[in-house]
Amino acid sequence: MLDGVAVDFIPGETILSAARRQGRYIPHLCWHPDFDPQGSCRLCVVEVNGRSGSACTLRASAGAVVESDTDELNDQRRTLLQMLFVEGNHFCPACEKSGNCLLQATAYEMNMQDVRFEEFYPQRPVDASHPDILLDFNRCILCELCVRASHDVDHKDLFAIAGYGIGTHLVINSESGQLGDTNMALSDRAADICPVGAILPKRRGFVTPIGQRRYDLHRVSDPNTQEAS
Ligand code: SF4
Ligand code: FES
Repeated sequence: MLDGVAVDFIPGETILSAARRQGRYIPHLCWHPDFDPQGSCRLCVVEVNGRSGSACTLRASAGAVVESDTDELNDQRRTLLQMLFVEGNHFCPACEKSGNCLLQATAYEMNMQDVRFEEFYPQRPVDASHPDILLDFNRCILCELCVRASHDVDHKDLFAIAGYGIGTHLVINSESGQLGDTNMALSDRAADICPVGAILPKRRGFVTPIGQRRYDLHRVSDPNTQEAS
């Protein structure tokens, strides 16, 4: 049962995958249907038989009572989102990803009205060294999808996460630490997997006008607007 409604599952399937397959939304940021879950963003935390756990990593099981859409869990999710917004520099009106951004769409879905905490306004570089791809560290939410895509699909291992705690950050696996010194290509899976505006193709702005983008047209909770699998 998920929020009081029965959900079927395939043996071995996670709670989030089973829910999604049946058009049920559980908030998430670091999960993507094409990749193994890694359970780092904590947006998908649910209560299973009264105990907390990540819906993207916990297997669905017969008789389990799962609660997701509760005031308490949604409050926690709003807090996590607020922390992400203040920890980076997310200026949606100036970002090409606006309307296609999972962070922005999830904040709308969770009815996040303000950031509550003091903004960090960190000083982070923008790596424009690659001829075709822009990397803006200010928008990175450390979901590790580019890390997984570069490893699992592109077999290049161009990205990694370094540091810990508040110092955790994305690094480029090249001698200079610059994207331009890697063999990354625009056709790489890692080049189009970023759920926010941290990795973007150069010279492609407003191909889809503002107001007609994925999450402009449908909420993130709409089954038809979830990530393509
Ligand atoms: Fe995730 Fe994008 Fe940051 Fe990579 S650059 S970790 S895909 S937010
Ligand atoms: Fe489950 Fe990020 S989606 S922890």
